[in-house]
Amino acid sequence: MKQYDNVVVFNHPLINHKIAILRDEKTSMKEFRELVEEITTLMTYESLKENVPTVEKQVKTPLETCTQHIVEDDSIVIVPILRAGLGMVNGVHVLFPLAKVGHIGMYRNEETLEPDTYYCKLPQGIENKLAILIDPMLATGGSACDAIQLLKDKGCKNIKFMAIIGAPEGVSRVAEAHPDVKIYVSTMDRCLNEHGYILPGLGDAGDRLFGTK
Ligand code: PRP
Ligand code: URA
Repeated sequence: MKQYDNVVVFNHPLINHKIAILRDEKTSMKEFRELVEEITTLMTYESLKENVPTVEKQVKTPLETCTQHIVEDDSIVIVPILRAGLGMVNGVHVLFPLAKVGHIGMYRNEETLEPDTYYCKLPQGIENKLAILIDPMLATGGSACDAIQLLKDKGCKNIKFMAIIGAPEGVSRVAEAHPDVKIYVSTMDRCLNEHGYILPGLGDAGDRLFGTK
């Protein structure tokens, strides 16, 4: 795959270890859900290394007062793409428990593989915050492209997109459509099959999170 300045692929041994268990068809729904949360927390830690709004705060230690930089929960909005993105929300909330959550509901048309947007509810003032858009799977990239455009249409200027598994064609599509958005992917898989599923992937993330199959 071509290299893009706005794409980061973590390939971190600890995250890859957890993804290996996530992929296993024998992994239970409970364990799957827990792993998605844990991986998301690790991804959030890595992806917030740069371009994050901080404010100065005076902190009095037992010895003296110093100026520190803190990240306020309210400067961040978590935006899951339904359904599977919901499984990642707690993984970000562990770090920012008071961050507000916006929801974008999208469903891929099984024939065209293009997403239909059926729901959008975002917190007021999101345009001045860092929007962390989350979805475990970045396949054709259609859902991510449309969700990012929706956030931009609402005025968002600082958007990060995090996906656990990416397919090269989808990552390229999002990277080219939205060069101003940083895309964080834990691991890059081989390709898509004829039904738009990532190979080797982990199957349908929504079904595995919520037990719908
Ligand atoms: C899955 C996944 C992404 C999308 C990725 O959702 O959670 O949102 O597919 O595919 P794309 O990159 O080709 O757009 P799906 O549409 O199956 O809905 P669900 O989460 O409700 O199962
Ligand atoms: N959505 C999923 O849940 N899995 C895939 O492999 C592709 C899209």
